[in-house]
Amino acid sequence: MIVFLNGQFVPEEQALLSVFDRGFLYGDGLFETLRVFNGRPFRWAQYLERLHRGAELLRLRLPFSAEELRLHADELIRRNQMPESVLRLSVSRGLGPRGYSIKETEQPSVVMSLHPAPVVDPRHPPQWRLLTSSLRVAANDPLATIKTCNKLPQILARAEAEEHGADEALLLNTDGEVVEAASSNLFWIEKGTLCTPPLEDGALPGITRALALELGPTLDLPTKEKSARPETLHQADGVFLTLSTLGIVEATSLDGKPLARSSWVARLQAAYQRTILEETS
Ligand SMILES: Cc1ncc(COP(=O)(O)O)c(C=O)c1O
Repeated sequence: MIVFLNGQFVPEEQALLSVFDRGFLYGDGLFETLRVFNGRPFRWAQYLERLHRGAELLRLRLPFSAEELRLHADELIRRNQMPESVLRLSVSRGLGPRGYSIKETEQPSVVMSLHPAPVVDPRHPPQWRLLTSSLRVAANDPLATIKTCNKLPQILARAEAEEHGADEALLLNTDGEVVEAASSNLFWIEKGTLCTPPLEDGALPGITRALALELGPTLDLPTKEKSARPETLHQADGVFLTLSTLGIVEATSLDGKPLARSSWVARLQAAYQRTILEETS
């Protein structure tokens, strides 16, 4: 595998960063994970926009423009011959004097790598069993609005879910409202409306979330951002998660109790597939 590292294309064995890199020392960095379809990064501009917002919040100066990164991403896909893959873009603040201060930090490091795409049989799309995490996230957390390299709540929540035989963790905020899942945004169908928690409740502005909100109205399915408690999911007509690597994933149970199934999920999945085809053919 060839990896993009700070302007160079190198074999992965040679794609190395210092042990003093702040990404390693403090999780001082950002990342994006997106799908490549037919050799094209899907919705590239939206991921780069989120990356730039993250860089601004972290006071981090990206050493490449969005256009330069796109050219390098295209070249990476070509060199690895991986037109159907997952692209991970990582940015770290790089090196600097010991301690938290960002004074005298050097140039950030930028890495892009490709990974095999998950194999999904469209006739049997993945379904997830959810477990409510014992960890809580904060509402109105500015750091939840960007994709930082600090994902410990999500990592621990997913570990807890897997230890209990579930596939994904449902995260609540400190007000007891449902926010999102460890690696995905949360949606439910309620009285013919597609609902999702507002970002202020502590959710990541997922790129697939934005697309699902875009697709609803095209199918005459109204959308609404609304705070909710876990009981709402048990009473909903259907529940699903959105994430870049898998798209729209139906949730079939929460804490061992079956969730209702809605035909809207399959309709949204089909609309999502059509968008991919339209934008990457
Ligand atoms: C906490 C969290 N929420 C939601 C998502 C889904 O975001 P996207 O649709 O941009 O992949 C992710 C993706 O990794 C995530 O880590």
